[in-house]
Amino acid sequence: MADLKTNYMGIQLDNPLVVSSSGITGRVKGIVRCAEAGAGAVVLKSMFEELIRADSKGLDEALVSSGSGHPEIYDYLGADIGMQLGPLPYLEFIEKVRKKVTLPVIASINCVTPRWWVPYARKIESAGADALELNISHFPGENEEDSKHIEAGYVEIVREVTSQVSIPVAVKIGFYFTSLMNVMQDLVAAGAKALVLFNRYHAIDVDLESKRLVSAVKFSSSGEQNLPLRWVGLASKRLDCDIAASTGIHDAESVVKMLMVGANVVQVCSVLYRKGPKYLEELRQGVSSWLDGAGYNSVDEIRGLALKNTESELALLTRLQYVMALEEATSLYKY
Ligand SMILES: Cc1cc2nc3c(=O)[nH]c(=O)nc-3n(C[C@H](O)[C@H](O)[C@H](O)COP(=O)(O)O)c2cc1C
Repeated sequence: MADLKTNYMGIQLDNPLVVSSSGITGRVKGIVRCAEAGAGAVVLKSMFEELIRADSKGLDEALVSSGSGHPEIYDYLGADIGMQLGPLPYLEFIEKVRKKVTLPVIASINCVTPRWWVPYARKIESAGADALELNISHFPGENEEDSKHIEAGYVEIVREVTSQVSIPVAVKIGFYFTSLMNVMQDLVAAGAKALVLFNRYHAIDVDLESKRLVSAVKFSSSGEQNLPLRWVGLASKRLDCDIAASTGIHDAESVVKMLMVGANVVQVCSVLYRKGPKYLEELRQGVSSWLDGAGYNSVDEIRGLALKNTESELALLTRLQYVMALEEATSLYKY
């Protein structure tokens, strides 16, 4: 049977199947199920600064009012005490998970204000996470904000965090960048050990009944894998870091394809919501059978295999308008 062992950011995984950050990994029970079904690693649900801030408001207000005759008490304890204590439940969660499972545990944070990334990352490291995923997301929707400024913000977060923690740090991004390769290169130079390509953000739709904006479907479809596949291919070829493929990976064939374009691991989420964590067994079995059937002894043997013919593969990956394919499609048009 083929060897599925995989190295991701210097951590040894039993196989390349990583459960993405999500509600499934936000509960100990969900993580235990994933571990039992043979996940290679889990990324915990993100700790969101936004949620901590909402919860911490009450604590700060209570402190101010309880020390109303003595404002110095509040000063002594420090403003933003709620923000400092806010991560405690997440840290306890990491400790609980650590005691329940032996597989690698990657924590995840998403902050809104630059100042909290580093202190939260340090707390997470102390709580025993094996690695940290920075879920950095900034919607580029403001007219005045130029791309250089936004990109510098991402890079600064990565530089600061990686200089302050010793666990490996992955950076999970979306694809809303003008020059994605350039940004990814800067993130790696700033200390990212891996890039997670890509996050799948909250989508918006219009409800024709109410004629109002609503949240769109939460889960991905398998057709969405082609976008990350292209960028995983380019990044794995051109950057000196590990790559986790994410979005639209729903079956063993997709896992094999992502490995063939150079992914070190794949992350799965939507398909586990639909089919349950036990589906990881099927995925793992499927990858193993595919390798055995095709005569390969390990996942390492197929990693990057589809990009061996560098010149022509890179030409394909970087081509936006492929005239031959467009003409082929036209020839299929029958109406
Ligand atoms: C219900 C739900 C919760 C999620 N929560 C998080 C989260 O806390 N942090 C994060 O980085 N990504 C989160 N994601 C995004 C997933 O980790 C993943 O990147 C995305 O769903 C694309 O992968 P998929 O096509 O396998 O679903 C969430 C996705 C879903 C559907």
